Amino acid sequence: MIFPTDVLTVLTDQRTEIQHDQVRIPFELDRPVYEQVDKVLKEMGGRWDGRKKVRAHVFAYRIEEFMRQCLAAGEYPSRYDQGWYATPPALVTQIVDQAGIRAGDTVLEPSAGAGAMTADIASRGGVVDAVELDERRAEILRAQGDCRKVQNTDFLALDPLDTEEGYDRIVMNPPFNNGLDHILHAVGFMKDDGVLVAVMSQGLMWWSDRKTTDFREVVEEVGGEIERLPEDSFAVSGTNVRTCLLFLPGYAGSRLRTHDWLLRQPRQLDLFDVAA
Ligand SMILES: C[S@@+](CC[C@H](N)C(=O)[O-])C[C@H]1O[C@@H](n2cnc3c(N)ncnc32)[C@H](O)[C@@H]1O
Repeated sequence: MIFPTDVLTVLTDQRTEIQHDQVRIPFELDRPVYEQVDKVLKEMGGRWDGRKKVRAHVFAYRIEEFMRQCLAAGEYPSRYDQGWYATPPALVTQIVDQAGIRAGDTVLEPSAGAGAMTADIASRGGVVDAVELDERRAEILRAQGDCRKVQNTDFLALDPLDTEEGYDRIVMNPPFNNGLDHILHAVGFMKDDGVLVAVMSQGLMWWSDRKTTDFREVVEEVGGEIERLPEDSFAVSGTNVRTCLLFLPGYAGSRLRTHDWLLRQPRQLDLFDVAA
């Protein structure tokens, strides 16, 4: 989306403070201009915090570098683009804790957005590779420098076997319209004893189509969990979307079609040929 001229003027005004996760405009604006600025900042995922000590639009991710690049391009991604809802900081901590990331673990974030999770993972010593479809968000991920590798591509089009080794951990908050496809595809990038933690639409808990019911069976079989998240989990990102948290632990011999499982296939086929 192109910034309206008045909004661009306000956001590039030297008095406007854009720092960490906040945008603060410490000067008076005409009502119509204020409304336009407010609309754009909310579309970018911000939330107005009117408390006296804040009085700023607050984001669930680091807006500083992101905004610099958007303003330079004159364009911004709306949170409706490709199902983009940044994961709020409290939930990031919960996800990364549950994934049990240890220093040196390789971690895949296959729908990484503007990096709400990558910084936390890197701060725990995780070696993060990120994939993001949106070019602007991929650029931000590169600029933030938390990741070993950033791929600006469609994750679903990546072949797991193009990656030499599976990942120890996968953390993700994929677009909800086809989130289960993203999760099933991500399992192909995980080591046999890896762990995958994903935020998903709450529909994962009750959808009755074959793919979802089969998946719930596998989750139960491997000792995984699907936990309902509180309804306001994404409120700070400006949405009331109902979500759940999936915990999927792998182990050797499980039914999960992990990266190791995929690697074993050709050898099993060879054996089968010999036996035949
Ligand atoms: C719900 S947002 C989550 C962003 C980030 N993981 C976070 O936690 O804040 C989903 C992200 O997935 C990206 N996305 C959508 N489809 C994708 C695809 N096929 N491959 C890679 N990324 C995709 C969107 O552009 C968006 O940034």
